[in-house]
Amino acid sequence: MHKEYHMKKVLSALSVFAAGLAFGLDAGAAVTGGDIAKYDLANGESVYTASCAACHTSGILKSPKTGVQADWTARLEQGMDTLIKKSIDGYTDVGNMPAKGGNDALTDAEVANAVAYMVKQLQ
Ligand code: HEC
Repeated sequence: MHKEYHMKKVLSALSVFAAGLAFGLDAGAAVTGGDIAKYDLANGESVYTASCAACHTSGILKSPKTGVQADWTARLEQGMDTLIKKSIDGYTDVGNMPAKGGNDALTDAEVANAVAYMVKQLQ
């Protein structure tokens, strides 16, 4: 019984790892390369630089670091829509992600573009 539980944990850890690999191959993970094709990545880059980089480039306050795969593998499992919604609304899990990165002037579309830009840095 106990052993079985342990095995399940190992298996679920493995499937997260496998999903990370699949992400690189664009084959079946929650967020794939195709998911970001519809966003304006140039706009996303400027939004990111102005409103997101302060935390996500350094990783302060437990922010997942941009371009660091290990910080994102499990997060990508949630899918693009959830990542965007949480970035717009803000949320607290291990740290505090302020709504729209603390910049209320941003539109929802601009935040979505910035998220797509961040996902792009993992490819
Ligand atoms: C003040 C620091 C700070 C700023 C500025 C900031 N973030 Fe975050 N962000 C965080 C932290 C901390 C987390 C992790 C929160 C947690 O998991 O508890 C996070 C998490 C995220 C996540 C992962 C969400 C998830 O479900 O795992 C995304 C995507 C994200 N931020 C996007 C953005 C975007 C886009 C911007 C700019 C518009 C931005 N962040 C600006 C601190 C920040």
